[in-house]
Amino acid sequence: MDKKKAAAERAVEFVQSGMVVGLGTGSTAYFAIEALGRRVKEGLDITGVATSIGTELLAKKFGVPLVSLDEVKLIDITIDGADEVDPQFNLIKGMGGALLREKIVAYASLEEIIVVDDSKLVDVLGTCSPLPIEVAPFGHKLTKTALEDLGCQARLKGGEKPLKTDNGNLIYECKFEQIEDPEFLEIEIHLIPGVVESGLFIDLATKVVIGQEGGTQLRAKN
Ligand code: A5P
Repeated sequence: MDKKKAAAERAVEFVQSGMVVGLGTGSTAYFAIEALGRRVKEGLDITGVATSIGTELLAKKFGVPLVSLDEVKLIDITIDGADEVDPQFNLIKGMGGALLREKIVAYASLEEIIVVDDSKLVDVLGTCSPLPIEVAPFGHKLTKTALEDLGCQARLKGGEKPLKTDNGNLIYECKFEQIEDPEFLEIEIHLIPGVVESGLFIDLATKVVIGQEGGTQLRAKN
């Protein structure tokens, strides 16, 4: 079985009737939404909260009932993908452009289960993936310069035809050499006016399900 699919399907086993479930965005989260849809048809009684307009459409397609985040007090479990995962479960997320809603949903979740294939595991964040950062369109070139002053090379997602996020903002993909101190970088990024949110997810993931050769591996935070 596809590694991403295997990880997503294992994560879905944690979902029980009565739960509010955060629905992630991306090619791995896709398999989780599909599997949830199958379980809903078999009688699982859940309400989903989507992390993007794309995910909202998928949930409707697979028959997962939806509510908006403002209609719930908290989320029991969110299942979402990631671009990189370090040994402390810190993440880079957002290469699919949905990081702002994903982070708001993760923050509201009792459990944030990250589903990845084993290519996403790194010792230090920034090793493979750039860090996506959502910025306001107003003055974004100055925001880019301020981001580059932190030691990265920033590229506007979509280039000539910039991608607009679901929130009407832009994304800069910021390539750092290695992010040795994610907590400190997160603070520095948020000090820049124009930054809406960064794709650093620190201390939000509670479980990581890894799809690998021959099956899946579950890692849980104590
Ligand atoms: C979406 O904005 C992202 O955070 C995705 O969760 C992340 O990019 C992982 O995507 P894949 O599962 O498609 O690799």
